[in-house]
Amino acid sequence: MPDDQHDRRRHTSEDDITAEVLARFAETPDPRLRRIMLSLIGHLHAFVKEVQLTEAEWFQAIGILTEAGKMCSDKRQEFILFSDTLGVSMVVDLLDHRKPEGATESTVFGPFHRLGAPELPAGGNIAPRDTTGMPALVGGRVLDLDGRPIAGALLDVWQAQTNGLYDSQDSHPDELHMRGKFRSDAEGGWLIRTVRPVHYPIPSDGPVGRMLSATGRHPWRPAHIHFVVSADGYEPVTTHIFDRADPYLASDAVFAVKDSLICDFVPHDAPTPEARRLGLAPPFLVAEFDFRLAPAAGAASASVTDAQRRLAALGAH
Ligand code: BEZ
Ligand code: FE
Repeated sequence: MPDDQHDRRRHTSEDDITAEVLARFAETPDPRLRRIMLSLIGHLHAFVKEVQLTEAEWFQAIGILTEAGKMCSDKRQEFILFSDTLGVSMVVDLLDHRKPEGATESTVFGPFHRLGAPELPAGGNIAPRDTTGMPALVGGRVLDLDGRPIAGALLDVWQAQTNGLYDSQDSHPDELHMRGKFRSDAEGGWLIRTVRPVHYPIPSDGPVGRMLSATGRHPWRPAHIHFVVSADGYEPVTTHIFDRADPYLASDAVFAVKDSLICDFVPHDAPTPEARRLGLAPPFLVAEFDFRLAPAAGAASASVTDAQRRLAALGAH
């Protein structure tokens, strides 16, 4: 053993250990990985010291993470739920998807997107088996930042059923329901027939649910419809529209509400021309929302976003 290793003082304090660990990671060849690891170690050690973590608590944390891993499947992603309920997903979204003034704001992707939603014509019904919800026509335009229409934009849409469950959580999880892909027309117009979205609890029968109840938090998400809107030459946006009447707008379990994404679902007791054309009898609701896309920063945008691809790679279908 070299002499200097005999002579060096060993870890005598918590801070000595932190310094030694940081030194071992300091030679990480990839600069981005080095930055991430050094910062992670620094914050992790500071956290443990600040709260004076006990060994029992440390093992409890490891048990929670182990259980979260075991719960993950093609239908359930407990780690995304942790990220969402700790507010990390929204911070990452803000940092990584900064939008110019006027562009539609993004929000969480969530764990319930599925590839393979059917392509539907304008006014197509994404809720054919939802017989209890209030019918709704949701539409608007896809525009650029100067207000010009974007024709041929793709809107990938998904929504929870009136029973508060996504299709993948319900009794026939392999059947797609409340999902569709729509294209904007020459004026940028898009139109979806659905039912009024409902508030629903995020899955709370696992470690995330226990964390929420132990910390006095509820699991509810305000009523919303999910969208990924993409078009060639524009940055895609992953977002929701929220129902202004929902009581959980101010306390979304995953911190995803932005004022600019809230819209009115207006009751109609008489037919509109669009409802007549679609054979939709009153009463129904109408919600209008315009998406504004920013020009693509780099290469032309793809219709499947990184988030969609990555969720599918985790095994979600
Ligand atoms: C959702 O809206 O589908 C969702 C988002 C985050 C966590 C759970 C569900
Ligand atoms: Fe949702």
